[in-house]
Amino acid sequence: MSNKIIPVITIDGPSGAGKGTIAQMLALELDWNILDSGALYRTLAFFMAEEAISLDQFQEKKKFIKERFKVKFDPGIVGEPVKVIFRDEDITNLVRTEEIAKKTSELAAEPLIRDFIKPCQREFMIEPGLIADGRDMGTVIFRDAKHKIFLTASPKERAKRRQTQLKRQGSEVNMRVLLQELEERDKKDTERKHSPLRPAVDSVIIDTSSLDPKGVIKEIKKNL
Ligand code: DC
Repeated sequence: MSNKIIPVITIDGPSGAGKGTIAQMLALELDWNILDSGALYRTLAFFMAEEAISLDQFQEKKKFIKERFKVKFDPGIVGEPVKVIFRDEDITNLVRTEEIAKKTSELAAEPLIRDFIKPCQREFMIEPGLIADGRDMGTVIFRDAKHKIFLTASPKERAKRRQTQLKRQGSEVNMRVLLQELEERDKKDTERKHSPLRPAVDSVIIDTSSLDPKGVIKEIKKNL
């Protein structure tokens, strides 16, 4: 077995901080693999809803879920979301809805679900390297990653970005509602007992509120 160390760059932060775009740009530039761990949780929420599996039934259906939970990511092209391929079907737009986001935030607080997702995430660490986007990539999943980035931005700016993203997908969402939902999810993600959202002590924190993606990449490169 090869002992080669596979380089990992972790990009954590709240939703709308720009993680997706930055992870995508880095993955394309370096030609590395990409893990959108939020989309992995979303896909699980989507699949459980499709199969009408409640959280209470998760343990007993775990084997059934595991056998079918085959997710791949394609960084796609800049300006479009990273593609989520589930069992050979492109479900990108199906998992990037506010309804799925809400379900996902609830599921992601459950240790049973986090334990299930943990090994799935590590499977993405393959040569030549991995860009891992999420909430606990640097603090829990890839603790040994050499480079850890934590992106943040003001709630207003993040809600604005989310609105633009949803509009592009054809959904109109009221800004006030979006901001409220985003703050509720932030609260849930940062205050939960298991793997709460927080910067790793050895991470570089970048506020992206007034930076464009190229500016963020420049900041990151200064720290690589
Ligand atoms: O980044 P996102 O909006 O796609 O994430 C969806 C939800 O999943 C969000 O509520 C946070 C949660 N999540 C998590 O708990 N841990 C991760 N590593 C990634 C996402």
